[in-house]
Amino acid sequence: MRLQSASRKILGGLGLRVVREAEFDASIRAEARRLQLSELAYDSTRDGSLAAEEYALLEQLVAESNALDGPLIEIGTLFGRTTSKMALWKSAAKTIFTLDNYAWNPWKLTPQMHFQLTSLVLQYLTDTGQVVQVRADKDEWMSQYHERPPALVFCDADHSYEATARDIRLAREAGARIVCGHDYSPEHPGVIRAVEENGGCAQLAGTLWRLRDR
Ligand SMILES: C[S@@+](CC[C@H](N)C(=O)[O-])C[C@H]1O[C@@H](n2cnc3c(N)ncnc32)[C@H](O)[C@@H]1O
Repeated sequence: MRLQSASRKILGGLGLRVVREAEFDASIRAEARRLQLSELAYDSTRDGSLAAEEYALLEQLVAESNALDGPLIEIGTLFGRTTSKMALWKSAAKTIFTLDNYAWNPWKLTPQMHFQLTSLVLQYLTDTGQVVQVRADKDEWMSQYHERPPALVFCDADHSYEATARDIRLAREAGARIVCGHDYSPEHPGVIRAVEENGGCAQLAGTLWRLRDR
């Protein structure tokens, strides 16, 4: 007994703690239970990406844009999930510019960690030239865009009224043929107002909107 407490003291002095194997196993089991529960409660829309029916409409819009000139622009990369989907659906000749300032992510990563993680996710696509990962403020980058008019602009960054109206204006000024975006829903009244003031929805699936042509 004395030997045990002496060894505990020595290890404690080194900043170490003895944990019985049984206690360790129990804590792993408790953690697994917690994770399982949080997974059950997990809402797939909470990661900032799109739901299945929204991806179905986006796939159709990308297919349509394959017949048009110009690149695709995604405003709001997050972790590159939708970028990767769009890369899968686009024709080989098309480039996707995906913009983010890495100011927000649901996992509370620092902007630099967020950027680096997304760079890793997109590495194959950027190395093969299919995607250009742009780290910039969307308004600055879009207002200086002077390349070929984009076939499609997908707005999915800031969902306030002002930001959405600006995204639509800058997309149109760049000559975008298809303008679409995410989060046309009562939780984002600013998106609804900006879309309605600019012609309304030509198509809507879930909260994915396609702007009516002018
Ligand atoms: C909802 S997430 C994008 C989700 C992504 N399109 C997807 O489907 O997986 C919004 C992203 O917009 C970015 N963002 C917000 N304001 C921005 C700005 N002013 N310029 C560039 N990116 C911005 C955030 O950092 C965040 O990564």
